[in-house]
Amino acid sequence: MLSFSNVDFSYPNQPVFTDLNFELEHGEFTFLIGKSGAGKSTLLQLVYMNILPNSGIVQIGNYDSKTIKPRELPYLRRKLGIVFQEFRLLNDRNIYENLSFVLEATNTPRKEIKRRVNDALTDVGLVHRRYSMPLELSGGEQQRVAIARAVLNDPILILADEPTGNLDPDTSSEILEIIRKIHQRGTAVLFATHNYEIVKKVNAKIIKLEDGKAYKAVLKQKP
Ligand SMILES: Nc1ncnc2c1ncn2[C@@H]1O[C@H](COP(=O)(O)OP(=O)(O)O)[C@@H](O)[C@H]1O
Ligand SMILES: [Mg+2]
Repeated sequence: MLSFSNVDFSYPNQPVFTDLNFELEHGEFTFLIGKSGAGKSTLLQLVYMNILPNSGIVQIGNYDSKTIKPRELPYLRRKLGIVFQEFRLLNDRNIYENLSFVLEATNTPRKEIKRRVNDALTDVGLVHRRYSMPLELSGGEQQRVAIARAVLNDPILILADEPTGNLDPDTSSEILEIIRKIHQRGTAVLFATHNYEIVKKVNAKIIKLEDGKAYKAVLKQKP
């Protein structure tokens, strides 16, 4: 479903990846680990094609980094659900509007928007907060809203960039459970983190970034 083949990527004066290779299968849960600066966020940006490789190829679904056209990017992004460490909600709109906004962009009928937004908020246990503003919610609740927003278009892949990075350990576990629940419905997950407590909780594939390359890694599971 997703593959990186011989990917080189540099920012101006900052090489990040040289000959990076890995693949993700449909429905797979994969952790992306590596110390700060190893390139986790850069790799995720290459997946949603916010940036393109200098050489090599990123392929996802029917799209690839060599042939994708700018007008096709919104269609690619609709197949992806993206969750960031800092939530990135629109703080001047309520929770319902943060989600309905996504579906209005695709001309979804109003009735269907209502149903899908309420279903997504129910899934993360926050439908009763739909008329609250983002900053009236706790960090964990804001992240649950961000996850609900990410799954609205029924993506094939969730990209999560340190989604528990701003949260305490108990709240982090809750967020992990919600993402696992989504995974169990068939969605692939690529979960970047440097929180080994989180990684130990799931029996998932682990890819480690080091020195500009990707390695398969193994961690001891918690009994
Ligand atoms: N926009 C940018 N311009 C230049 N260098 C960047 C930019 N973003 C990240 N970097 C550099 O690229 C490397 C990888 O960064 P990043 O992908 O953010 O790592 P991680 O998410 O694993 O912490 C780091 O050396 C970082 O300083
Ligand atoms: Mg990062």
